[in-house]
Amino acid sequence: MKITVIGAGNVGATAAQKIAYDELAHEVVIVDVVEDLPQGKGLDMFQAMPVIGSDTIVTGTNTYDATADSDIVIMTAGLARKPGMSRDDLLFKNSEIVKSCIEQAYAKSPNAFFIVVSNPLDVMTYVALKATGLPRHKVIGMAGVLDSARYRTFIAMELGVSVEDINAFVLGGHGDTMVPLPRFTTVAGVPLSELMSQEKIDAIVKRTANGGAEIVGLLKTGSAYYSPSASAVEMAECIIKNKRRILPCAVWLEGEYGLKDVVCGVPIVLGKNGMERIFEIKLSDDEQAALNKSADDVRTNMAKLAAQA
Ligand code: LAC
Repeated sequence: MKITVIGAGNVGATAAQKIAYDELAHEVVIVDVVEDLPQGKGLDMFQAMPVIGSDTIVTGTNTYDATADSDIVIMTAGLARKPGMSRDDLLFKNSEIVKSCIEQAYAKSPNAFFIVVSNPLDVMTYVALKATGLPRHKVIGMAGVLDSARYRTFIAMELGVSVEDINAFVLGGHGDTMVPLPRFTTVAGVPLSELMSQEKIDAIVKRTANGGAEIVGLLKTGSAYYSPSASAVEMAECIIKNKRRILPCAVWLEGEYGLKDVVCGVPIVLGKNGMERIFEIKLSDDEQAALNKSADDVRTNMAKLAAQA
């Protein structure tokens, strides 16, 4: 198992570190355009392995030669948000970065699965799909896992129980119109509505949708990376171990959930073939309307990119 992480910034480096610490791959290659940075971080990480007790080999590089024959490529490169910016403000610059990096990585690793983390996430997943021409089960965007993790954390904080016992779904695009679904949220099997007032639930849903911006506001010079990188690595782990977990991920839709020709977050079964299938559940009218609105926001960005091309 060989994994390439594109981008030696906070998300990329933390993802590489988790893969190496958990010994999920025999080899991790970090690629970045900044001279010496991936080499330095890679060497430092490799030097942690004797202490951690992992035999993952970590290296850094500025070109794609050393990434050849990767099984999984995790795309994290791109500009991150600064306070006051939305993910959409990154659209044009990051689409160039994603297209170029993914083309180069795909040329060396035509059999890899691609996990996209760069923002605006849903559109960048579409850019990666187009850049590779790969079928949709091999190019998957990370966002739902992160958004659900935030949602689960807020619920656990409120109830004072283990985060592990919170089961939750957040659907839709990775933006302000994401769709946390309280109706499908349970705490050790108990519906959330039995444990919390609607008012509290609404507040948590709102805080979840604003979760990325909350961190940007605190960090001031960048955006979140611990939770985003952990989420991307969880997706990689599902593929590596063929776990077939049901995780909300951003994928190209062909009519599922009534949505077509758009990348949007829906629950999928994630295993050794990447997206094994889309897990469809019947939404209420309100939930469907919220999902449609979120998908429309992604479409608007796809149209902006198409207009510029
Ligand atoms: C966030 C950014 C990474 O949600 O999209 O924190």
